[in-house]
Amino acid sequence: RTAKRLCFARGSEQARIMMIGEAPGRDEDLQGKPFVGRAGQLLDRMLAAIGLTEGHVYITNTVYWRPPGNRTPTPEEIEACAPFLARQIELLSPSVLVLLGGAAAKTILGTSEGIMRLRGKWLSYSCAGRDLPILATLHPAYLLRNPEQKRLAWRDLLTLKAAIDA
Ligand code: URA
Repeated sequence: RTAKRLCFARGSEQARIMMIGEAPGRDEDLQGKPFVGRAGQLLDRMLAAIGLTEGHVYITNTVYWRPPGNRTPTPEEIEACAPFLARQIELLSPSVLVLLGGAAAKTILGTSEGIMRLRGKWLSYSCAGRDLPILATLHPAYLLRNPEQKRLAWRDLLTLKAAIDA
C-alpha cells in the first residue's frame, strides 16, 4: 500500500551468481531496482574488489516492495514473495547463490541460525532436482553501520572468488 514501485531484480539474467538481500529501501523504491542506495553502492564496490560488475550478477531481495518506513519485512510478506523467489532461482539456475544478511539466509535456508554462524561457509539449497551451492555473508547495510566487520565480508568475497575462478 505504501510502496511506489516494484523492485524485482537488477543485473544480468545470464549471470552465474545470484544475490539475495532483504527488502528495498527508499532509493530502491524510487528507482524500482534492488540495491541502488548506499548499501547497493557498497555492494557494487565489494563486487568490483573481486573483479565483478553488474553484468556478472543477478541481484534481488526476499520481498519486492519497500516495507513502510524500512521496517523489517513481516513473515507474511516474505511468504507472499517466496514462490516467486523460488521460481526466480529456478529460472536463472545460477552456479552460486549468495545470501546477503540474516533475512535472506533465514528465508532460503529455513533456519533460525544467526548470520554470524551461517556466513563464510558453503551450504546447499535444493532446487529443481539439483543442489545449489550457497554462500551467506553480511548485509552491506550492516557493514555500513559496522565497518569493522568488513574484514569478515572480505573473507567471504574471497571464498566466492575462489569458487567462481575454479
Ligand atoms: N537492502 C536490501 O536488503 N535490499 C535492497 O535492495 C536495498 C537495501
